[in-house]
Amino acid sequence: MPERSRVAVLISGRGSNMAALIYASRADDCPYEVALVTGDNPDAPGLELAEAEDVPVVRIPAPTTKDRSRYFSALQKVLEDHCIDFIALAGFMRILPDDFVAEWDRRMVNIHPSLLPRHKGLKTHHACLAAGEKVTGATVHLVTPELDSGEILGQVEVAVLSDDTPETLAERVLIAEHQLYPHVVSRYLNRTRDFEWITERVAELALALPATYPQTSHGSPGWKVGTQSNSKFFAIMWNHHHGEGSVGVLVKCSGQDEMAHLIQSEPDIYFRPAYYGPSDWVGIKLDRPKVDWDHVSERLAQSWELVAPRRLLEAGGR
Ligand code: GRF
Repeated sequence: MPERSRVAVLISGRGSNMAALIYASRADDCPYEVALVTGDNPDAPGLELAEAEDVPVVRIPAPTTKDRSRYFSALQKVLEDHCIDFIALAGFMRILPDDFVAEWDRRMVNIHPSLLPRHKGLKTHHACLAAGEKVTGATVHLVTPELDSGEILGQVEVAVLSDDTPETLAERVLIAEHQLYPHVVSRYLNRTRDFEWITERVAELALALPATYPQTSHGSPGWKVGTQSNSKFFAIMWNHHHGEGSVGVLVKCSGQDEMAHLIQSEPDIYFRPAYYGPSDWVGIKLDRPKVDWDHVSERLAQSWELVAPRRLLEAGGR
């Protein structure tokens, strides 16, 4: 089983979506574990349930209007202390400050009880009934500074019955939420292990370097520097080749000493690829929950410099 993402669930109340996320995480093939439950209300009933399920819980004192920023600094510290990769908001009733949202950009999701973009904010079921709609549902979306407006990752529809009240409708939508949330979180987290997704990210970084173009090497996506008549590979994708259990990218390093040093100091990140290793290619594992893409970009640039034709280097390179 590859490393699981460490998810924090933030709640303010009952925590039934939190429970759905916890129970789904018990499946063998679930790509995440709930590594923390916290929130803005130390008395939230969901916290007790999480404790009973042996999930780590931290109670942070509820923020007053004045110390909102102190609350979010404390929260950020708790998330870092628990090595959290990803946040799922589940009935967390606080407006998030922009810097907190930026810190967790594309690593924080929310569930909302309507088919967004319809009925943002509170009282969604009242609004749906008042509009006479026949279908409503739930949405999981990325969190951005604007309320309930980030990229939609998944939705589920729920029929509105003619005798529904806001309460009966909420009850059924909640059942749908419990199915949707763990499913969408798992699918989103799994993409970071997907060869195609990883390759697209590497391609973007590799092709941002000067005089580069894509070319396959023995069937693997790769990138060269130079012209069609005089060029060299500086990056090649690796997909579980030769029994190596990882997806990654191979880049040139300065020699065997540097490779040994990299692998020894960060064995979770670097590996020596079979066949390529003796010619100073080092592998960077990329199917991990938390890849530092700036670091990958630096390694690609260094590899580029090691193989780029002299003319490009003399021209100032990058
Ligand atoms: C859910 O309806 C969710 O969509 C909304 O808040 C409610 C939380 O319920 N954001 P619970 O605490 O998960 O039971």
